[in-house]
Order: sequence, then structure tokens, then C-alpha cells
Amino acid sequence: MIDVLLGLQWGDEGKGKIVDFFAPNYDIIARFQGGPNAGHTLYVNGEKIVLHQIPSGIFHEGTINLIGSGVVLDPVTLKKEFDKVAAFGVDCKKNLSIAERTHLILPTHRALDKASEMSKGVEKIGSTLKGIGPAYMDKTGRNGLRVGDILDKNFTTQYIRLRLKHQKLLDSFGFQEDITEWEEEFFEALELMRQLKIVNGEYFINDQISKGKKVLAEGAQGSMLDVDFGTFPFVTSSNTISAGVCTGLGVAPQKIKEVLGVTKAYCTRVGSGPFPTELHDDTGEMLRKVGSEFGATTGRPRRCGWIDLVALNFACMINGVTQIVMTKADVLDGFEELNVCESYRINGKEQSMVPYQMMKTQIEPIYKTFKGWQSDITKIKSFENIPGQMKEYIAHINQFLGVPVKYISNGPGREQIIHSPGV
Ligand code: GDP
Ligand code: IMO
Ligand code: MG
Repeated sequence: MIDVLLGLQWGDEGKGKIVDFFAPNYDIIARFQGGPNAGHTLYVNGEKIVLHQIPSGIFHEGTINLIGSGVVLDPVTLKKEFDKVAAFGVDCKKNLSIAERTHLILPTHRALDKASEMSKGVEKIGSTLKGIGPAYMDKTGRNGLRVGDILDKNFTTQYIRLRLKHQKLLDSFGFQEDITEWEEEFFEALELMRQLKIVNGEYFINDQISKGKKVLAEGAQGSMLDVDFGTFPFVTSSNTISAGVCTGLGVAPQKIKEVLGVTKAYCTRVGSGPFPTELHDDTGEMLRKVGSEFGATTGRPRRCGWIDLVALNFACMINGVTQIVMTKADVLDGFEELNVCESYRINGKEQSMVPYQMMKTQIEPIYKTFKGWQSDITKIKSFENIPGQMKEYIAHINQFLGVPVKYISNGPGREQIIHSPGV
């Protein structure tokens, strides 16, 4: 049996905290896509830690953490993270496994990401520059190197062959930076990786499932950044939605049980691309300030706006969401009024569908306004004690989406979560 936890917006919904919260209920936490573009924030013994490659179950003893085949893995980031979690007494040699089919991010992928973004000028994607796009391009282009390859004695030859291909591309971009240091780090990090558990991911996970073990698949990014269904071309390069679990871990669809969709009580986006409910005023600034909305991977300020139920409805549909986790509800504590986008006005017509091309379409969000609860909810432990106005806000979202809001997160801490009856 496998449950899925993924983001329903443009990433940074608080997935890391929620996976860490649920981890004790599972035997395995498995990342199925994305790479170090992800930044998942956890608080361990009150201390903040951001994970980019390692699944968010790593701080729970006895939990197996798997980096699945659908991930793209940067050994350098992995090594840094290995040391970071070791400082908390966690030994990745024991409880981290890596699928041998996982594609590697090479130093030249990072260089190509940078060169490609620079060449786009104002039309840039706003990529995290971690090499994600180029690494996935090498996967689908059937050039890439995989984790299993590092155990091959011919690995360096294979690496050089691909590097030469990349050099031609970099030359065509006019990219001049010296990446020798990145390469040194890369080969050093491979030494560590060779000491980790490299497994056949699909046999491993199916075997565990058949033994009755419980798996939680941890998504990265968000549904609106999905390469097929997101706001293309301003997306990431993987399938961030629940379908990605099957291709990213090698499990059959009927093994999936619950799909937990995480959404903020409002909305953010980092990087370029359409964002219909974005606020360019003091309210947007207040969301950013109160919510500390700065990227966990790049430190960039996140764009902020109201919750968008049109986009959320779409995300629930394509993911088959069965339960919603609403995070950062406490960020709305001080607001007098809250807006909820229920439809879009496009060319004078009101509609409730996400258009295929959001960038070239002028979208005006149509809002329903709610009264804010204007009280501190961060210490509340049970649903009965949340303010009436907040109950109304949640009930409306619940009803609109037709999916129960089962958990409400009211602070970044592990214990700050309220179980909701979801009606
Ligand atoms: P992820 O990428 O989905 O894991 O999310 P990030 O870690 O990038 O961003 C979420 C941010 O919100 C982090 O700084 C979390 O510590 C913080 N956070 C998570 N849940 C809550 C919450 O309920 N309230 C508040 N105030 N912060 C939260
Ligand atoms: P988590 O897992 C928010 C965004 C980037 C950029 C676009 C493409 O922490 O939610 P990429 O580096 O993938 O080529 O960038 O996607 N992006 C994210 N935004 N959260 C993330 O991950 C993201 N990963 C990528 O900002 O707009
Ligand atoms: Mg993040």
C-alpha cells in the first residue's frame, strides 16, 4: 500500500513539514521525482533544516528513505546534506537507499541550466539553476548517466564522453565559466555515494509493499509546475502529480491508496510564469512578511496572493486527491478580510477552467470575500477551538473542492497541526 503526499500549487506548500509529521505512520518515505530544486523545511528539536535531495523521513529512526528512479540526483548536494543530517546524529549509510536507475545531475548540467536561462533573457523560466532541465533532457534524450553507472569501472570514460557533448552545447551558448571546481566536488561526492545503499528501486519497493509495509511517496514542486499539466513553459521538467509516482518508483496505480494534497491557505510562486491571484500591493507584501515567503533553495522572495480554487480544483482532478492538508493558516491570522478566487474572467467571460495557455491570456480572478478571524491560532490543538470565521473559510474550500480538508497546519513546528473533521 502506498500513500502519496504532494503539492497542489506552485511548490513550497509545506510538504517537508507534513511528511516529517506523518513519517512515524510509515515504513518507507520515497521521493519519486524532482531533484535539488526542491527545498523542504523541517524543524528538528526546534532547529530548522532544509532538505533538497534526501526524503523528509530521514529523522525518524527505523524509517527507510528511498531516492526513487524518477528523481534526478546531484551527488554534490547529496554529500552536503549527508553531512548536515549527520550533525543531528543521523547516519544515511543506514537508512537511506538510492535507486540505481536514478539519473545523475552532472556539473555540466548545472552549467547548461545557467547558460540556457541566460540566453532566454526576460523570458527566462526562473529556474533554480540546479541542472534539473538539462538532466531530464539527457534522460529523455537517452544520453544520461545513472546512479548504477557509478559502480561501473568505465564510468569516467562514459562521463567524459557526455561532458564533451555538453561542452559543444556550452560553447554554442558562449558559456565561459570554469567548472573545474564543480567537477572535483562531483568526483569526491561519488566516492561517498559508492558507500551508500544502491538498490534496484522497483523490486525493492514492490517487495516491501508485498510484505505489508507502508510507503509514503513524497512529491517535490507542485502540480502547477508539472511538465505536462502545469503553466507550461514555466514549469519544472518532471511529472509532479500522482501519476509520477508510478513512473518514478515503478509501482502500479492500484497500489496507491490515499492522495494527500498540500495547499497553503493562500498562494505563492517563486520564479517566472502566470499567477492569476498574485497581489502586487501591501496585502501581498504582508503575506510575504508574515509568511516569511523567501525560497528555501534560492532565497528569492516568493510572489504572494490569495488562494486560487480554480487552480486547486484542477490540481485535485488531475491528482485524484482524497484528502487536503492546509498549511500556513496562521499566516492569515492578522488579516481583516480574506479573498478566495472562485472563477476567472477571460475575454469578458466568466469560467471555472484553467486555460491551456495561461501566459497569453489575460486572467481576472473573481473573488468571494470572507471576514478574517483576527486572532492567534498558533497554539490551538483541536478543531473545536478554532475561530468561527476560520471554520467558515475552511468549510467553503472543502465544499468548493469536494475534497475534505483533513489537516490544518498552524505553524512551522512538527506539533503545530490540527486534525479537522473535514466536512
Ligand atoms: P515545501 O517545499 O513544500 O516543503 O515547503 P518549504 O519548506 O519550501 O516552504 C514552507 C515554509 O513554510 C517553510 O519555511 C516551513 O517551515 C514553513 N511552514 C510550514 N508549515 C507552516 C505553517 O503551518 N505555518 C507557518 N507559519 N509556517 C509553516
Ligand atoms: P519544492 O519541492 C517552488 C520552480 C522554479 C522555477 C521553475 C523551474 O521546494 O516545493 P527548475 O529548477 O525546476 O528548472 O525551475 O520551478 N521550482 C520550484 N518552486 N518550490 C520548488 O520545490 C520548486 N522547484 C522548482 O522557481 O520557476
Ligand atoms: Mg520548498
